[in-house]
Amino acid sequence: RIRSISLRRVLDSRGNPTVEADVLTESGGFGRAAAPSGASTGEYEAVERPPTEAIAAAREHAVPRIEGLFAGDQREVDAVLRAADGTDDFSEIGANSAVAISMATAKAAADVLGAPLYQHLGGAFRGDNFPIPLGNVIGGGEHARDATHIQEFLAAPVGAPSVVEAVFANAAVHAAVAEELDERDVPAAKGDEGAWAPAISDAEAFEVMDAAVETIEDEVGFEIRFGLDVAAAELYDSDEEVYVYGDETKTRAEQIAYVAEMIDEYDLAYVEDPLDEDDFEGYAELTERVGVAGARPSQAGDCLICGDDLFVTNTDRLQTGIDVGAGNSILIKPNQIGTLSDAFDAVELAHRNGYDAVVSHRSGETEDTTIAHLAVATDAAYIKTGTVGGERTAKLNELIRIADDAV
Ligand code: PGA
Ligand code: ZN
Repeated sequence: RIRSISLRRVLDSRGNPTVEADVLTESGGFGRAAAPSGASTGEYEAVERPPTEAIAAAREHAVPRIEGLFAGDQREVDAVLRAADGTDDFSEIGANSAVAISMATAKAAADVLGAPLYQHLGGAFRGDNFPIPLGNVIGGGEHARDATHIQEFLAAPVGAPSVVEAVFANAAVHAAVAEELDERDVPAAKGDEGAWAPAISDAEAFEVMDAAVETIEDEVGFEIRFGLDVAAAELYDSDEEVYVYGDETKTRAEQIAYVAEMIDEYDLAYVEDPLDEDDFEGYAELTERVGVAGARPSQAGDCLICGDDLFVTNTDRLQTGIDVGAGNSILIKPNQIGTLSDAFDAVELAHRNGYDAVVSHRSGETEDTTIAHLAVATDAAYIKTGTVGGERTAKLNELIRIADDAV
């Protein structure tokens, strides 16, 4: 049983405070986890509160009700978190307190069992597939100023024979992009997730990505594709009903045509949030247009059309999308919904309906490695967790350890 829960403020990768939870069980099991934090957050996400307030509220409402529960009973702990909060969106105790407690509980339970976290979460009948890491190598949007309008250009080493080769391929693409930019005399700092943030047009970024991926593909000898997180909700002007790319705008129809054309031209493996977070029909139109067939697009080699701000890891919103054929995959961010149980439910609903799941970091991160375990436990097609930088490599290196059975 859970003996005690401690909550504290720690630093995240942007230098902002975030919530860390320690869960200690009567038998000496220990789990520690910290909440990540988004910058291009979806309108329908669970609510992150300022850490001091989130901690105070969680201490008052949630901690006394969770102490005494079995750490291994994740669903019960998560249900009590929800009940103690009393709102739909964790706006009382904060999704940051909730997710930190939920994840720390799972780690404490794994510790009691003496099992790695992915094994505890995935159970005995877990598949033995490993997620392919999507590596953000060029980016802008809300993650860097004066860079690309499209938020992320992501390397996708779909043909990598192993996790470790995939991880290193993404790092190599990141380095090759730096060389490409250097040759073009374009200086580049890094954005919040460690991707290069050059002041180039999106069209030029496509060219740079294409060249870098091809170079590394030749070097490593397996297929590498690339993908995007358009984060289109951030580009959308709802008054004018247009997508704003600096001085240029695109209507909804033009946006759909543009994304479809890029998928075709560059054989993209992945497109996240191509349209505004309220446009389920637009997603459906694009998904149909790019001709995605049937189950688990990752297994068919089809392009994933992935909902992040659209679905916000929420089963109700995912069901709405499934009903109209919006997208074929869902991004899973536990802090968007507040608990691991909710995140698991979203993956399960996705898989039951032939959608892929992509487990993801946030732009503000810590050294916490829970998402690496979650991606393996849920048999996710991809894990999106950056390419370089300590808070990103924490997850990538943990993934390598899991594949090596050395956690
Ligand atoms: P965020 O962005 O973590 O800043 O919200 C990441 C994403 O849009 O996928
Ligand atoms: Zn996104």
